[in-house]
Amino acid sequence: MEASHLAAEAAGASLPPLTTRPLSPALGAEIIGVDLSQGISPALAAQLQDIWHENLVILLRGQKLSMEDQVRFAECFGPPAKIHTPGHRAGHDAVMLITNVRENGKLIGALPDGEMHFHTDQCHQERPAKASMLYAIDIPSVGGNTLFANAYMAYETLPADVKRRIEGKKAINGYDYDNASMKRGTKIADGVPHYAHPVVRTHPATARKALYVNRLMTLAIEGMPEAESDELLGVLFDHQEQRQFVYEHVWRVGDILMWDNRCTLHARTDFSAAERRLMRRVTILGEKPV
Ligand code: SIN
Repeated sequence: MEASHLAAEAAGASLPPLTTRPLSPALGAEIIGVDLSQGISPALAAQLQDIWHENLVILLRGQKLSMEDQVRFAECFGPPAKIHTPGHRAGHDAVMLITNVRENGKLIGALPDGEMHFHTDQCHQERPAKASMLYAIDIPSVGGNTLFANAYMAYETLPADVKRRIEGKKAINGYDYDNASMKRGTKIADGVPHYAHPVVRTHPATARKALYVNRLMTLAIEGMPEAESDELLGVLFDHQEQRQFVYEHVWRVGDILMWDNRCTLHARTDFSAAERRLMRRVTILGEKPV
């Protein structure tokens, strides 16, 4: 922690502002000078949360975190969400490895290879994750970057006629991709977990509206003829993925980055299958979108 913070906490005084650096014009802030390995006080957690709400994505570089340290950090923002994907627990029921690493020919995690379409975590569940955090352990020399798109900006910049078309609508989100993260269906196959959420959701902390559909998991707009739903979703996906709404994060080992699934989408760029990529993920349970 910064020396000025330690002194303020010891004296029971309110904390001075943290040093931050914007990551892009669209979203994101790097927070400088905080070491998470020792745990953080509720006052510092509240400061981080304020910066996170304002910037949608926060990044802290150069961290050395055990799995327990990471879970403890996640718990500052709410209860970690249990992993439902079979076989993908990493020794803790809220931790998942996102990796292409195999031991004895068997993957030790999930979402192993290559590019992924834009999506938001657990949007197929009634209470999707509000936050996800990735800690970078091994990264490829090129690619495997994570893209984050600002879903407030996406909503706010929609043409008025499109806003009218989606007003009050819900969309069906399904989880059907595991190892095929560039495939998208428009039908709900048997046994595919899915849930319908508002196309536009209101963030409970900021009260801002965000566009809540995504190319990987949103299958259809509820109650709309299939052709019309496909056409409208196509318009929304193309709009929300525009470069001016996006920050592309190039990972360094020791980065911990937390994003807000209620107002961002994320995607991944391709990388060589011959290089290791190992990230430790914790998600934090959210509320039912409204
Ligand atoms: C994810 O979608 O949670 C994984 C993103 C990444 O591997 O960069």
